[in-house]
Amino acid sequence: MFAYIGGKSRQSKWIRSLMPNDFIVYVEVFGGAMWNYINLPYVPEVVYYNDVNPHLANLWFCMKEYDKFLELIEKEISNLTTRKPTTK
Ligand SMILES: C[S@@+](CC[C@H](N)C(=O)[O-])C[C@H]1O[C@@H](n2cnc3c(N)ncnc32)[C@H](O)[C@@H]1O
Repeated sequence: MFAYIGGKSRQSKWIRSLMPNDFIVYVEVFGGAMWNYINLPYVPEVVYYNDVNPHLANLWFCMKEYDKFLELIEKEISNLTTRKPTTK
C-alpha cells in the first residue's frame, strides 16, 4: 500500500483492540489509505469506503473493480499505439 499523511498503520493494532470481534459491516468514514482495514485479521462481509478526496475514492474503486480497470487501461494503450497522426 502507500504512506499517507495521518494514516493509521502504526495505530491499527491499538484501534483493533478497541473493536468488537464479530462485526460483518465495516465503515470507514475517513477512509484515506485504509490502513486500519488492511490490518484487520479478516475480511468483513460488507465494507464501506468514504473519503472527501475523489482521487482516493477513485483509486479504491479501481482496485475493487480491477478487471474493468485493466480492460480500460489496455484499451487506452491500444488507442495510443494505433492512433494515426492528425493532419492540418
Ligand atoms: C488520516 S486519513 C484516514 C486514515 C485511515 N482511516 C487509516 O486507517 O489509515 C483522513 C482522511 O479523511 C479524509 N477527510 C477529511 N475530511 C473529510 C470529510 N469531511 N469527509 C470525508 N472524508 C474526509 C481525508 O481526505 C483523508 O484521506
